[in-house]
Amino acid sequence: MNLRKPFDNIRHNRFTYKGLEPRLDYIFFEITHRCNLNCQMCWFGDGVLNKNEKPELNYDEIISFIDTLKDVKYMTITGGEPLLKPRILDIMHHVEKKGIKVSLATNGTVFSKKLYDSILAMKNINMLNISLDGPKEIHNMIRRKDYAYDQTIQAINYVVKNKPDNFPMQVNFTISALNYKYIMETYNLLCSLNVPQVQYIHLSYNTTNENNYTDFKQADSLRDIDLKVLSKELDCLFYENIFSKNINVKIIPHVGSDEIIKYYTNPDYVLANKCGPLSSGLKVNAFGEIFPCRNIEKPMLGNVKDINVNDVFNSQEIVSFRKNMNGKLQQICNKCCAVRR
Ligand SMILES: C[S@@+](CC[C@H](N)C(=O)[O-])C[C@H]1O[C@@H](n2cnc3c(N)ncnc32)[C@H](O)[C@@H]1O
Ligand code: SF4
Ligand code: SF4
Repeated sequence: MNLRKPFDNIRHNRFTYKGLEPRLDYIFFEITHRCNLNCQMCWFGDGVLNKNEKPELNYDEIISFIDTLKDVKYMTITGGEPLLKPRILDIMHHVEKKGIKVSLATNGTVFSKKLYDSILAMKNINMLNISLDGPKEIHNMIRRKDYAYDQTIQAINYVVKNKPDNFPMQVNFTISALNYKYIMETYNLLCSLNVPQVQYIHLSYNTTNENNYTDFKQADSLRDIDLKVLSKELDCLFYENIFSKNINVKIIPHVGSDEIIKYYTNPDYVLANKCGPLSSGLKVNAFGEIFPCRNIEKPMLGNVKDINVNDVFNSQEIVSFRKNMNGKLQQICNKCCAVRR
């Protein structure tokens, strides 16, 4: 099972070697906070996504921001639902022209052939991620819309059938108390659909009230998980995958079966003590606000409308943020999928 590729960490860890200055090469871009769904486990949750208390970056502001990026090689474009962003294709084409590789995350419900044909024709897609959280009733219950499953399956099918060879795509399944019993069922479904890769993501959630981030009821409901069943599902996945040739499985963060109980029952359990993206990336949210980390919304380092992200990256504020995190991440990191051993 492709739990960890041997070179996965090299990009992120290079700054741990003496003499190398951190260099900004990755942007986690929450391009919009708007969404057509309101999923039960989502960080934004309960309609916060659609509040829009401040104006989001408009097209021109996004293009200007992209033009300031010097050494950035990778960008995650996510949301909210990024395919709802006006002129998303123009924006993605601009990113393509800059030679930046893109990982796009979508719920798969914003579908048109024109949109998907354009995305499939792009040369800079690092990964097209489509979310699916289980069989029909489960997915629709989690995603809180009756149409979600059918539309997402339509998008997955379209991509599998029309993508060029080697076009990278995967389905993301976020594990929660609502769907942990359906891990294998979903794996079998995705095999039958010829999906090349599936990524199972342990739920990220806030363990303190210090951050606005996922202070949500799902964290409580994790207590309802029958950990024997979850371990069994993950073990089955492991063995099935050894013999399966046509689908690759990833699980993040990598929680070994001997660690499942500690990970799920102890909010303080430290699975790993390094953050992957911290040393090379920044988050920019839909308003243009810049943060050192995708989950911890402080310190806010400025706004891309006023400040160049390259300058922010080695500012005193972020250097001390990184220094504080060095070898001792915050409690929120214990349940974040970006931690690395
Ligand atoms: C926030 S969504 C944004 C992109 C798009 N709207 C979607 O649903 O794929 C990105 C991914 O985060 C996952 N996600 C949502 N809440 C999560 C949580 N609390 N922990 C881990 N992943 C979560 C979603 O299932 C999705 O796969
Ligand atoms: S579709 Fe994505 S962004 Fe929207 S609520 Fe669901 S997980 Fe969150
Ligand atoms: S591991 Fe911690 S610092 Fe890194 S992205 Fe997650 S919450 Fe942020």
